[in-house]
Amino acid sequence: MTTRLVSKTLDSNTFIYDDGKTVLIFDAGASLDELKKNLKRAPDAIFITHGHYDHIFHLDDYARAFSCPIYAHERAISKFYSPAENYGEELVLKTARDRFSQISEESEILINGTNVLPIFTPGHTNCSVSFLLNGELFAGDFLFKTSVGRYDLLTSNKEELKASIKKILGYDFSVVHSGHGEDSSREEQKRNLVVWTRFLNR
Ligand SMILES: [Fe+2]
Repeated sequence: MTTRLVSKTLDSNTFIYDDGKTVLIFDAGASLDELKKNLKRAPDAIFITHGHYDHIFHLDDYARAFSCPIYAHERAISKFYSPAENYGEELVLKTARDRFSQISEESEILINGTNVLPIFTPGHTNCSVSFLLNGELFAGDFLFKTSVGRYDLLTSNKEELKASIKKILGYDFSVVHSGHGEDSSREEQKRNLVVWTRFLNR
């Protein structure tokens, strides 16, 4: 089961994936209290979809509370310490850099018997990673239910976004969990992405 927590102040989603065997967290916009209220036990791993402030805001608290690995793209980890790049005004994480596990290739990460596949999906940022497991795609701000991520920010790239859209349609997934807003199905995304690809190609 996957639970979506919506941060009241940041409006971003944090997800708890719990299949009874493995507990995983995706992004860190929810407060630690809110997260703990919804967790049955400590997580086995934390994954960060990209380095924007609204997805890492409470990551210091998570890192202090849990001893599990925290995965993010190496360029996202740089943004943790750069307010100009994470858009968090003064947000500089206090957690030491070596506490984070860099994702530098698209090879499956085995967590407590569950395989998580990182898929590089740049465009919204140069550090955007989507995570695929058991047909569930955790896409961060790459894909939303009826739109795609902004591509006018620092480290955004429209051409990369177009390539990421084409790439992701080659993967088998049934549901998309986005960084903001509601989940969507593969069919909804296929329709959404046809429209957006047309728009991006204008
Ligand atoms: Fe973002």
